Amino acid sequence: MSNTKIEIFDTTLRDGEQVPGCKLDTKQKVIIAEQLDISGVDIIEAGFPVSSPGDFKSVEAIAKKVKNATVCGLTRAVENDIKIAAEALKHAKKPRIHTGIGTSDSHIKFKFNSNREQIIKRVFQAVSYAKKFVEDVEFYAEDAGRTDNHYLARVCETAIKAGATVLNIPDTTGYCLPSEYGAKIKYLMEHVKGIEKAILSCHCHNDLGLATANSIQGVINGARQIECTINGIGERAGNTALEEVVMVLKQHQGLNLETNINAEMLYGLSQLVSESMGIYTQPNKAIVGANAFAHSSGIHQDGVIKNRETYEIINPEDIGLKGSQIVLTARSGRAALAYRAKNIGYELTKLQLDTIYARFLTFADERKEINDSDIHQIIEASSIYQQIISA
Ligand code: KIV
Ligand code: ZN
Repeated sequence: MSNTKIEIFDTTLRDGEQVPGCKLDTKQKVIIAEQLDISGVDIIEAGFPVSSPGDFKSVEAIAKKVKNATVCGLTRAVENDIKIAAEALKHAKKPRIHTGIGTSDSHIKFKFNSNREQIIKRVFQAVSYAKKFVEDVEFYAEDAGRTDNHYLARVCETAIKAGATVLNIPDTTGYCLPSEYGAKIKYLMEHVKGIEKAILSCHCHNDLGLATANSIQGVINGARQIECTINGIGERAGNTALEEVVMVLKQHQGLNLETNINAEMLYGLSQLVSESMGIYTQPNKAIVGANAFAHSSGIHQDGVIKNRETYEIINPEDIGLKGSQIVLTARSGRAALAYRAKNIGYELTKLQLDTIYARFLTFADERKEINDSDIHQIIEASSIYQQIISA
């Protein structure tokens, strides 16, 4: 059975850049967009052009530079936003306008002081207006995660009738359980008239730490696009992490779903975004965190030294790293010490290892981590040093 392609829609430069203190200038955004394009991202959401002259300029510059990916600009369901987005995107080889409106009862009542029928009218007007400028129009039903499924299906039908090519179903508040979000996508696939004319997109936030799980449930249930950011950055607790969904689909071949992303670029992209935005990536971050391929307890180290697959489900080289790390701490065993000593030129016998291991533990109890120069020091100060250098 051949795999089904899942489109990767990267919103690092729009939803990701909404993180306080992470603002990028146009030059930095263009560099990131070019790397995303090379990595195989299908759609790059370059910004929200009406939001500021600087964002307009960035979207325009990215539209001119990107060679393969579709370049997308966000708008509200407001004519002026749409007109300005179209202007910013006019040089794009493949432009997309991403327009939409809140559809949950809470958004309809408190944000718009409106009602469901008026919102349906605005959906039709916004998508039809966007279609005057570009063929590719994505509609988002903001807070779809908390929108009644029956009403959401009507909203989707309206957007399709007006010409939407993609229907974005955001779990804006990160509220849904994976089973609930998957069931929502399934419901829409089964109940929206004309659904074959558009694809469904997952846009999940991470308020409960479920963004990746929800996006995966979405594509298992028929969605064909995932919206995500590098390192999972984004509003509040962030968005679905691009590197996570790409690797979930790559490691679980049985799902028969695949992306176009060159996974070997994932680590580099993570570093680029983290450094450009000045936002530190937590060490235990899945796939790209500093500890994602680091082993520090004796039991794990012994296993990994014997065979990497005992404790690693991903080959670090597949995401662009040189290899795994054996970190020496007071929890490390003899196998790890022998391995690290060998890496810096000491081939130790069992007896020699026993001799220095006790000293190693005393050292390690005083420090967080033992580095290569500490290993030299431990060996040089020991009675085995003469034996080693004269061997
Ligand atoms: O989270 C969300 O609902 C959004 C939309 C604007 C697409 O970011
Ligand atoms: Zn969002």
